Amino acid sequence: MASTPQAGIFALGTASHAYLELDMQEGTEGRALVAGVASLREPRTTMGGVNLVAGFRPELWRAIVPHESPATLEGFNRPIVGADFTMPATQHDAVLWISGSAYDVVFDVARQAIAALRDVARIAEETSSWPYHHDRDLTGFIDGTENPTLIEAPDLAVIPESGPGAGGSILLLQKWAHDAASWEAQPTARQESVIGRNKLDSAEIEDKPADSHVARTDQDLFGKIFRRNMPYGTVTDHGTMFVGFSSDQRRLVAMLESMAGVNDGVRDTLTYFATPLTGAFYFIPSIRGLTQ
Ligand code: HEM
Repeated sequence: MASTPQAGIFALGTASHAYLELDMQEGTEGRALVAGVASLREPRTTMGGVNLVAGFRPELWRAIVPHESPATLEGFNRPIVGADFTMPATQHDAVLWISGSAYDVVFDVARQAIAALRDVARIAEETSSWPYHHDRDLTGFIDGTENPTLIEAPDLAVIPESGPGAGGSILLLQKWAHDAASWEAQPTARQESVIGRNKLDSAEIEDKPADSHVARTDQDLFGKIFRRNMPYGTVTDHGTMFVGFSSDQRRLVAMLESMAGVNDGVRDTLTYFATPLTGAFYFIPSIRGLTQ
């Protein structure tokens, strides 16, 4: 039987999101956490058109379900240290990404999930997100232009049937705080050279600088990923929740290293206006992997 990926990965168009990162309670077995998270998929928490995507720290998952785990997958266990710039490692044991049509249902389902897992896990990080002007991030630029379509995305984001962990995906979750004052002080032309695209229509700039964001994450170089980024935060404290899926962790790691300037000392200019506060990798098992 084909391994079906968790459908919420591809459920575009939802207006409200919550990302919950959890750590195991003292003395809890990894197996109990996996069983608890798997049971959240029962109807009582998937009603109301709410999507739940659940994943685990790669090493925790491998210890429990080795035959459903990609061999080389690792957590975000060390900071990425680049050219005068560091991306912190804030790995946790599990993640729940809950999305829906409005915050009330997301809020209720998130609270039910936390209550159901109370004996095995506690919340370590909690972020709520919402779309901004259809598909813009809080820099004001359209985010997702070079994203694969929903036809292409499963082939890029989901581990193929032939491999261990088939039907699973690898999630990079990284919360970036924007320095809105400094960004908004830049003229539009400067902002466009930082991103490498026009602000109005997202057209690619022909002679974009080598340290622009799209040059530092060029998918023709690093391989393709599927992004589900969302704005997060309050009026005075906000940014981008980077939510990136791939069938191959190396693509995501290579992009992070490139943005930080690890190998060539060239740092993505976007990193002068946004700061990563968190960074974690999670394995998102197939539905069969999760519930077996
Ligand atoms: C503050 C955080 C970030 C913001 C505001 C941001 C914003 C953007 C924007 C506006 C674009 C251009 C339009 C598009 O193609 O989507 C873009 C492209 C892209 N970003 Fe980001 N991004 C952020 C972080 C990241 C991170 C951490 C990664 C990778 C780990 C990443 C990977 C990409 C990729 C792969 C592209 C498309 C590049 C291509 O043209 O092939 N971004 N991003």
